[in-house]
Amino acid sequence: MAKEIKTIGILTSGGDAPGMNAAIRAVVRSAIFRGLMVIGIRRGYSGLLNNDMSEMNLRSVSEIIHRGGTILYTARCKEMMTREGVERAVQNLREHGIDALVVIGGDGTFRGAREIARMGFPVIGIPATIDNDVACSDYTIGFDTAMNTATEMIDKLRDTATSHERCSVVQVMGRDAGFLAVNTGIACGALSILIPETAYDLDRDVCDKMLLTQRTGKRHFIIVVAEGAGNALEIAKQIEEKTGIDSRATVLGYVQRGGTPSTQDRIVASSMGYRAVECLANGSFNRIVAQKGGRITDIDIEEALNATKTIDRNYFSMSSAISL
Ligand code: F6P
Repeated sequence: MAKEIKTIGILTSGGDAPGMNAAIRAVVRSAIFRGLMVIGIRRGYSGLLNNDMSEMNLRSVSEIIHRGGTILYTARCKEMMTREGVERAVQNLREHGIDALVVIGGDGTFRGAREIARMGFPVIGIPATIDNDVACSDYTIGFDTAMNTATEMIDKLRDTATSHERCSVVQVMGRDAGFLAVNTGIACGALSILIPETAYDLDRDVCDKMLLTQRTGKRHFIIVVAEGAGNALEIAKQIEEKTGIDSRATVLGYVQRGGTPSTQDRIVASSMGYRAVECLANGSFNRIVAQKGGRITDIDIEEALNATKTIDRNYFSMSSAISL
């Protein structure tokens, strides 16, 4: 018989993502609705190790559904990668009377949670990262908002690239994953999209395409590069040298992580937060909440962290075919 959960701890960790607040709100409200107590832990695992936490109530999460960032703050915590760190985390949770921990973040956050689970302490993960690179879930909170932000920015860059008949090389976030680059690249009509998952040849995949389409009358070019696939400034310089086409680089950077969450992110975050509490209330522990085939579900944390997710090759070739 699973231990009855009376008090839940909640934290956000890793890179922030728009919609994290909506997820916190859903967890806090649905837990209190079920008669549970909620402790908000500030600054991710660092806050847990420093006992930086306090009780939350229904009003602690008022006026946040539409706000980007995370009211609980976030951090990356190296100590959680050590045995001592994990032991201290579990000890602090127990000392505060917390029976289960809900973590909101990406794979790094879930690896910390898995260590806590392996020590016999119940955890639930909610995937939130603008990179959409949590393998067990089709979707992560924040991805839609980040795509919309990047698309809006690239549309603006297109105006000036068109006026000057230039090439605009735009670097979007994604250290290890190209989901954001591929989707915004398609949405913005990029001629080439460069991602960390696929090796590319600058001549074949960018410059030759530019010169070919130039001969058909194309006068401006948008190249989207994920940060893990190269540096926009260097790529723009090389393109200009190789093609003679005036090229400019823009690094969109952290603007992609902020802003009001989109409708989709608010809905997914709310549904995932609700599901997390449902799992705990049903005695279903050590799960990662996920979206699969449009439905909210949950997956064992060990299985979730062993899963892999790749960019759809057809999708990638399609983007290349329609951009000429
Ligand atoms: O949120 C994910 C991400 O945006 C990655 O794409 C990026 O490499 C990373 O965060 C950078 O985050 P930070 O500088 O906060 O460590």
